[in-house]
Amino acid sequence: MILSLIDEYKENIEKAAEMIRAGGVVAFPTETVYGLGANATDEAAVARIFALKGRPGDNPLIVHVDSIPEAQRAAVFCDKANILAERFWPGPLTLVLKNRGLPGAVTAGLDTVGVRMPDCDAALSLISASGVPIAAPSANKSGSPSPTKPEHVQKDFGEDLMILDAGECSVGLESTVIDMTRDIPVILRPGAVTREMIRECIGEAAYTESFSPDEQETPMSPGMKYRHYAPRAAVTVVEGNNISVAEAIKYLYDKDIKKGDKPLIMASRENKIHYGKRDVVLTGSVYHPYEAAKCLYGLLRDADEDGYTNIYFEAIPKTGIGFAVMNRISKAAAYNIVKV
Ligand code: TXA
Ligand code: MG
Repeated sequence: MILSLIDEYKENIEKAAEMIRAGGVVAFPTETVYGLGANATDEAAVARIFALKGRPGDNPLIVHVDSIPEAQRAAVFCDKANILAERFWPGPLTLVLKNRGLPGAVTAGLDTVGVRMPDCDAALSLISASGVPIAAPSANKSGSPSPTKPEHVQKDFGEDLMILDAGECSVGLESTVIDMTRDIPVILRPGAVTREMIRECIGEAAYTESFSPDEQETPMSPGMKYRHYAPRAAVTVVEGNNISVAEAIKYLYDKDIKKGDKPLIMASRENKIHYGKRDVVLTGSVYHPYEAAKCLYGLLRDADEDGYTNIYFEAIPKTGIGFAVMNRISKAAAYNIVKV
């Protein structure tokens, strides 16, 4: 059931907190995507998340806290971690640190734990009212795009799940994940807090290009080895200068139409004009990649709902959050990237 936070904020936060305290699972909003939360200190409650989501047991969960001291009780903070938390929390940054005692069910047996303080009043109120840290993955069934609206969560899990509704998420892509346990911290998943922003604070930060299908080595973040963010439609990313991209997409689109497929173009506002009467949805302006970040998952989900079989996505510049957008869409495309 969906509990609105517009009319009965306090009452509904309290209902959800009761559910958490009782060992249940609640979907809740954050600034990035909706999470599927349970009491992080309760092994059985955490197991319920894995079961509901269909998530492999070797993929750890992020622990959500309402303050830095609470995070410091859950994990061992180094100096650089303190600097990043002071600078970016509450916000879309997950710090991977040595675990202090959260159950192995949360960390998938690793000796580290990912913690973050979300920048969302409803999430912070829920954590505070529950009185415990909340373990939560994104509130989608394993493999499908993360939910940025309560309707997305309900679509994946049905009417029975309690969902706190605070409308659409403001960022729209999952948090940046950074492993702080290494001499040079390593970004495991790019997000709204960019590598440049992190470097400005703590000097060096490495980035490891996430798992791609032909990589053999063990990924540092277990989440990387799973196909992610993917709609049912076959996604192709097309990269190059505006005109060549539009030409290539039109060619591929028209070929699909002849075959009887139902293609869709995901284009920037600036480029839409090239596509005439073809089916196009807009990802925002190429100059404002946060627009693409906010609408990306919703558009992928809508494309499935509308029965599209193929999606052609115009690559956007990898600046700012554009880097994270390109990371997610490349994975959704299973690295099917056409360079023109
Ligand atoms: O924005 C977000 O981070 C959202 C909201 C709900 O907070 N959560 C989210 O959780 O995206 P999830 O479970 O879908 O993604 C967590 C990612 C996974 O790739 C996981 O492998 C990685 O973080 N992760 C979690 N704990 C880790 C750890 N101890 N070491 C390495 N990677 C870890
Ligand atoms: Mg996820």
